[in-house]
Amino acid sequence: MSFQILWLFRIVLIVTFISNGSCFPDQAWYYSFVKDAKLAPMFARFDYIIIGGGTSGCALAATLSQNASVLVLERGGSPYDSPSATDIGNFATTLSNTSPKSWSQLFISEDGVYNTRARVLGGGSVLNAGFYTRAGDDYVKEAEWKSDEVEAAYEWVEEKVAFQPPVMGWQTAFKDGLLEAGEFPYNGFTYDHINGTKIGGTIFDQAGHRHTAANLLEYANPNSLAVYLHANVHKILFTTKGI
Ligand SMILES: Cc1cc2nc3c(=O)[nH]c(=O)nc-3n(C[C@H](O)[C@H](O)[C@H](O)COP(=O)(O)OP(=O)(O)OC[C@H]3O[C@@H](n4cnc5c(N)ncnc54)[C@H](O)[C@@H]3O)c2cc1C
Ligand SMILES: *[C@@H]1O[C@H](CO)[C@@H](O)[C@H](O)[C@H]1NC(C)=O
Ligand SMILES: *[C@@H]1O[C@H](CO)[C@@H](O)[C@H](O)[C@H]1NC(C)=O
Repeated sequence: MSFQILWLFRIVLIVTFISNGSCFPDQAWYYSFVKDAKLAPMFARFDYIIIGGGTSGCALAATLSQNASVLVLERGGSPYDSPSATDIGNFATTLSNTSPKSWSQLFISEDGVYNTRARVLGGGSVLNAGFYTRAGDDYVKEAEWKSDEVEAAYEWVEEKVAFQPPVMGWQTAFKDGLLEAGEFPYNGFTYDHINGTKIGGTIFDQAGHRHTAANLLEYANPNSLAVYLHANVHKILFTTKGI
């Protein structure tokens, strides 16, 4: 009798594990679909191939993988390999480390301006200053986007990566300066892009940990997404013939 109960218990456990694996999306630190490119199979087919797992690439992959098979090729590594490097206290150090395998690549624009671009899953959102705001209504109108879809997209993003910042010394001084200069009204904290002075959003949470576009992959369907790291794309070959 006790044997049978034990077996039943085991079966329930196994079923629970399997259904967890297929029904719930992966958590950022343990994405099962993120692998080194060395582990890629020789041949594979996908509905979509996204080159660059950056800020837009991650959001796109999470969305498209709902209904299609998706491959992301990212030339850099994973921000989760060195989590404290993205904390607010390490912002300058991480951004200015432009050594060959770092997340920050130095480039000089055609007119001679020094700048950096991201080389890591999550892209610019892993290196940038982290200011978050919604677009202005005029911008959405001009782009001819549907406002209800835009609203839904904002909520989708803000659930994972946007926070209200603590307002400390220099922020208070800056805000007071704007108000003194007549930038009214004062809107308090808001993600909206509006006239006047406001406290905007940030992708750093209250503990100073950065949330990045790579966190949006938590929305992905893990069964139809493959993300390969250290996959530097050099050439894309198109063919019009069936293969
Ligand atoms: C210092 C700095 C501060 C910023 N501050 C802010 C801010 O506060 N708020 C804000 O909203 N924006 C800010 N930005 C801008 C913002 O981060 C970028 O506009 C945004 O991240 C760009 O997104 P993207 O998807 O176009 O490109 P990226 O996020 O750069 O993604 C491109 C991806 O493609 C990969 N890639 C490139 N070539 C290849 C290849 N051949 N093969 C495979 N993969 C490849 C890269 O490694 C990268 O991951 C800042 C930018 C910088 C540099
Ligand atoms: C996926 O398919 C469902 C059902 O057809 C649809 O409602 C949804 O908009 C689709 N999502 C994407 C990202 O295409
Ligand atoms: C913001 O200010 C500009 C310039 O004064 C004005 O044209 C615009 O209508 C204002 N927008 C809103 C939403 O009040």
